[in-house]
Amino acid sequence: MPFKTIIEPFRIKSVEPIHMSTPEERKKYMTAAHFNPFLLRSQQVIIDLLTDSGTSAMSSEQWAGILRGDESYAGAQSWERFESEVKDLTGYPYILPTHQGRAAERILYGYLGGKEKVFISNTHFDTTRANIEFSGAEAFDIPCHEAHNHESDFPFKGNIDLIRLEELLKKFGTEKIGAVILTVTNNTGGGQPVSMANAESVAAICKKYNVLYIIDCCRIAENAYFIHHRETGFETKSYREIAQQMFSLADGCIMSAKKDALVNIGGFLALKNEQLAAACTNLLIITEGFSTYGGLSGRDMEAIAIGLREGFDADYLNYRIKSTAYLGEHIRAKGIPVLYPIGGHAVYVDAGLLYPHIPAHHYPGQALVCELYKIGGVRAVEIGSVMFGKYDEAGKLIPAPMELVRLAIPRRVYTQSHIDYVIEVFDEIARTRSSARGLRIIKEPKFLRHFTAHFETL
Ligand code: F0G
Repeated sequence: MPFKTIIEPFRIKSVEPIHMSTPEERKKYMTAAHFNPFLLRSQQVIIDLLTDSGTSAMSSEQWAGILRGDESYAGAQSWERFESEVKDLTGYPYILPTHQGRAAERILYGYLGGKEKVFISNTHFDTTRANIEFSGAEAFDIPCHEAHNHESDFPFKGNIDLIRLEELLKKFGTEKIGAVILTVTNNTGGGQPVSMANAESVAAICKKYNVLYIIDCCRIAENAYFIHHRETGFETKSYREIAQQMFSLADGCIMSAKKDALVNIGGFLALKNEQLAAACTNLLIITEGFSTYGGLSGRDMEAIAIGLREGFDADYLNYRIKSTAYLGEHIRAKGIPVLYPIGGHAVYVDAGLLYPHIPAHHYPGQALVCELYKIGGVRAVEIGSVMFGKYDEAGKLIPAPMELVRLAIPRRVYTQSHIDYVIEVFDEIARTRSSARGLRIIKEPKFLRHFTAHFETL
């Protein structure tokens, strides 16, 4: 391509107005939301970077598919299209539709988990960890050591630490292992990709110890893009072929279709093993729905079947990854510390480094999400000690390893001028960094506290 400017590879057919709030309004809104952006109303937000999950703009083809949706309870055509697309992509024979990723997690990890069981991952996403821990099992995160070095430009910081993996499998033994889960890309670890070489080594190790190998594949198209462009031997393979090769290594996958399948709701569990699939299908029917719709309507399955193709489109993926990098590189150039290289779906700001004067127990990440909202109406999410902090027996906070803030980019939703606005908001963040203040939690639930906790400023 001879031109520098990466244009959005789509035209806009339908628009949704943004309400332009004033700083005074936002101050009021933030106080009413107890300084937790999850408690803001969407109308109060100018640019919503809270998540890339379920926030995609669907294509005209997907909307056409919505009208074609077959809403029969059993054996609907939409189910057939969905099942055949998922089979074709993953190569797994048993497909269980679910209303989103965490429903598949609850079914599979609830079944495999329980007291004394152990799960091992490059990094468990928060709902993955919550479902595992809720079953009574334990979850170990073992990202590769390069993942801890922000400035290293190691191309596959999403990799799992293979040496630690073998150590843990040896230590616990086959019987205790629920599954090894490769999260692709590693969301909590910065949206960083996993290499095919790493995924292959995990397969070999899982085979050696005879343990189940599951891919959390919600961003596998983005991961395939990085493999194509960074890993030797994949230059001529399509993104879809790369994903198919990765699926072939594992025993199954869990997908939140709300990410790379470009839909607003949906997910699935896909498995190789017939007995395991049968056990999970029983659980599916109890809480999600009959096996040919899970928790989905026919129209949802139609949109997923189409989105799974569009998510691997070369022009789309090129724009997607480059536009995330555009935001990351520009704010990095302003001296904002970001996880580097920039990942696929989001830019991760290191709020611990940005606000060295705010200690972990005053939640620098939460301080930054509040500042972003107050200054520019930008909503982001803390991925630090609010999300992952724990308390010791004396009630003292055990902080998360990093105090991050995630700016997640919804797919096909914002244009470059929206992103330029966010970059400008960071000018003000940089200028006022020394005056940002920490927060204290005044109310919190036991699980997944970041969603509903209340804070007060110090
Ligand atoms: N696995 C990963 C890696 C995820 O990022 C998510 C969701 C899930 C599983 C659960 O899927 O939401 O469909 O139930 N991530 C969203 C996010 C919520 O904002 O990153 P779900």
